Amino acid sequence: MKVLVTGAAGFIGANFVYYMLCKHPDDEIVGYDALTYAGNLETLADAVDAGGGFRFVKGDITDREAVDALFAKEKFDAVVNFAAESHVDRSIEDPGVFLRTNILGTQVLMDASRKYEVPRYHQVSTDEVYGDLPLDRPDLLFTEETPIHTSSPYSASKASADLLVQAYIRTFGLPATISRCSNNYGPYQFPEKLIPLMIANCLAGKPLPVSGEGLNVRDWLYVDDHCKAIDLIVRSGKVGEVYNVGGHNEMKNIDIVKLIIQYLGKSEDLITYVTDRKGHDMRYAIDPAKITAALGWAPETMFKDGIGRTIDWYLAHKPWWENILSGEYQQYYEKMYGDR
Ligand code: NAD
Ligand code: DAU
Repeated sequence: MKVLVTGAAGFIGANFVYYMLCKHPDDEIVGYDALTYAGNLETLADAVDAGGGFRFVKGDITDREAVDALFAKEKFDAVVNFAAESHVDRSIEDPGVFLRTNILGTQVLMDASRKYEVPRYHQVSTDEVYGDLPLDRPDLLFTEETPIHTSSPYSASKASADLLVQAYIRTFGLPATISRCSNNYGPYQFPEKLIPLMIANCLAGKPLPVSGEGLNVRDWLYVDDHCKAIDLIVRSGKVGEVYNVGGHNEMKNIDIVKLIIQYLGKSEDLITYVTDRKGHDMRYAIDPAKITAALGWAPETMFKDGIGRTIDWYLAHKPWWENILSGEYQQYYEKMYGDR
């Protein structure tokens, strides 16, 4: 198969590239990424250096001409769209780029997929399109039938893209699928997100900024398990279907932060409660019964193993994230946490 992976220089996209190269060594993978603040070519260095089935092309998914030229040149068997603005806090500061990339970029990719008759388009979506669940109803889980009910400009942009994908399936017969996954963790996650941010701050002895009371719940999944689910959906999923992906691994933010502190042998005095995120979703919890029944998918990495592996990875790859932290990220951090 020849697969286009957009957003390949980001956290999950890069992990997906490595997963595919290992699992399907005969596949050809073209990574396409605009290299925004979140994209890092260093992350793909091993894939590029291996000189195997991977190539990287720098480009923006909203650039219709560039996307068209790429599709005209390559004959893709599948397109997997990871490219997105992905950070909720940033979407609250500046929604515009989220609408452009996440919605219009998706349209551009689907138009090219139609024109060049790509046999499979896959949209990487998120559980955030379902809004949130109450803390006092642990029996409630997001299923594929849960109504779309968004909270942030980020989740609204992802939900809009999902609706557009479903419209292209119905109106144009686009052979597409959608996956909606819960929170991922693992190597190469940008240190603006909860787990890598807390690891980096802990190691630097900096305050650990916990939003609100830290009681919000997320359903954490090791990134390789997400990659495996997407690979299964692309190869064997049914056109037109949505698949929820999640780890049955709900945890409060504060418990994650304390676990990281403990692992690194630091003090809980570093915890600093900061003004809550606007519109902060309380709880996410995925019911993955459909993908388990249809495709035999199940998470393989237990959280206690995955989080240890992840912290060890950050310890062993300090230059990777210190490089990021030394750049314009500093200004972002000051803006986000300076007066909270
Ligand atoms: P990320 O922010 O780490 O990476 C996004 C990548 O997309 C970056 O490399 C960036 O350069 C690239 N990109 C941004 N705008 C682009 C554009 N206009 N054209 C081309 N490339 C562009 O994000 P991530 O955490 O890896 O998330 C990947 C996808 O998975 C997103 O669609 C996100 O909504 C979805 N998702 C993420 C999670 C999670 O926990 N991180 C969970 C479920 C779904
Ligand atoms: O559920 C899937 C989603 O998970 C993806 O669609 C998003 O792309 C991804 O960023 C993630 O969204 P969250 O908002 O859940 O992730 P984040 O790491 O930003 O925050 C996780 C929780 O931790 C959330 O309740 C806010 C809280 N938090 C986060 C940061 C960065 C803090 O308390 N302090 C922080 O500094």
